Parts: sequence; structure tokens; C-alpha cells
Amino acid sequence: MKFFLDTADINEIREGATLGVVDGVTTNPSLIAKTGRPVEDVAREICSIVDGPLSLEVLSVTAEEMIEEGQKLAAIHPNVVVKIPMIREGLKALRGLSTKGIAVNVTLVFSPLQALLAAKNGAAYVSPFIGRLDDISADGMNLISDIIEVYDAYGFETEVLIASVRNPMHVLEAAKMGADVATVPLAVLEQMLKHPLTDIGLEKFMADWHRSQQSKS
Ligand code: G3P
Repeated sequence: MKFFLDTADINEIREGATLGVVDGVTTNPSLIAKTGRPVEDVAREICSIVDGPLSLEVLSVTAEEMIEEGQKLAAIHPNVVVKIPMIREGLKALRGLSTKGIAVNVTLVFSPLQALLAAKNGAAYVSPFIGRLDDISADGMNLISDIIEVYDAYGFETEVLIASVRNPMHVLEAAKMGADVATVPLAVLEQMLKHPLTDIGLEKFMADWHRSQQSKS
């Protein structure tokens, strides 16, 4: 499973990159807006920290404008993946960009049929939002399972990039299903690496060792 950080916060990205398990970064207009900086500047700084795919989302509303904007975003850095929302104009723009060899991450996906259409038009990634389904008492993990079943049935190469991840259990369940990528907030990545029994066990090891050294002196 590949892990992307779902943030545009440079400090978080620097911190996460030190762990050695971060393979890329995803952003969205809300995350970019929080930085208060031009997307080009944020993108170049992120690409200098993480050498992997960086998703940048278009703001345009027509397919023609999305294609033009997507080409500009892709020109910022070779690692840029253009994020396109799963709407009618986005589906058309996806086809326009993928046929030009530009990698597209289709976002705001909430149904397996949306994911099927994205794969048919050449999406490099599809981003099903687990947490926002859970937030309305729907089953976000069931969406992942359905998408993987459909993609496996037809041999689509589009990568399933789970998004809107709220906790480590989302990552575990998706990993058991064979999802390709999980994009997670740094806080979730930190939760994934921790276990209280590990901390308790290490503390006891060190205490026993130091006690044994003291008894020698
Ligand atoms: O960036 C896309 C997605 O991961 C955002 O999810 O629900 O945490 O805003 P959310």
C-alpha cells in the first residue's frame, strides 16, 4: 500500500517525510486555501520535500477550462497529478487530459459507478471519500469494496486512492481489501505507528536494563 499525506501544510509534510513511508501528497482547494499562498509556490515546495505524486485540484467548472487549467497545473512539476471532481464536465475533462498523457486523480467519488466511469476515461487514480460517507451514517468501506470488485472484474489499472480517512481502521480495512493508496492526515499516520503495549514493553526493557547496570556498580 502506498501512503500519501493529505495536507498542504509544509511543516506537516516535512515532519511526515522523515518517517520514510510517505510516497506522495494530495491537496484540495480547502487545504490550499489554508496556506494563504499561491498554489504554484506551495506545489514547488512540496515537490522539493516529497519525491512522489502531488495531487492539485482544478477550480474551473467547464471541461474546456478544466483541461486548460489542468495542463497549467501539470506544467508546474513532473510529479503533479491533476485532481478533477467527478462531475459531468469533469468526466469530459478527464478524457481530454488522460489522452494528452496527463495523470488525473478523480476526486469526490461516492459511488462505484462513478469510479467505473472514471476508470473508463483513463483516470490514473480514483479518490473515494470514506469519512464523508461515514459522517452521514453510510458505509464508506463498502464503497471501497465495491470499487475494487468492479476494477478487478475488468482489469482496470486505475489506482484506488482511499481519501477522507478519519482513523487507522479505515486504512487497515482498505489494506485488507488491497486498495492501492491511502491518503491520510499526518495525525492518522502517527496513530498508525503507535501501540500502548509497545511503549509499555520498551519502558520495562529499559528499566530492567538500567536496574541491572546499577546493581553491578
Ligand atoms: O483531500 C481529499 C479528502 O481526503 C478530504 O477529506 O473529508 O477530510 O475533507 P476530508
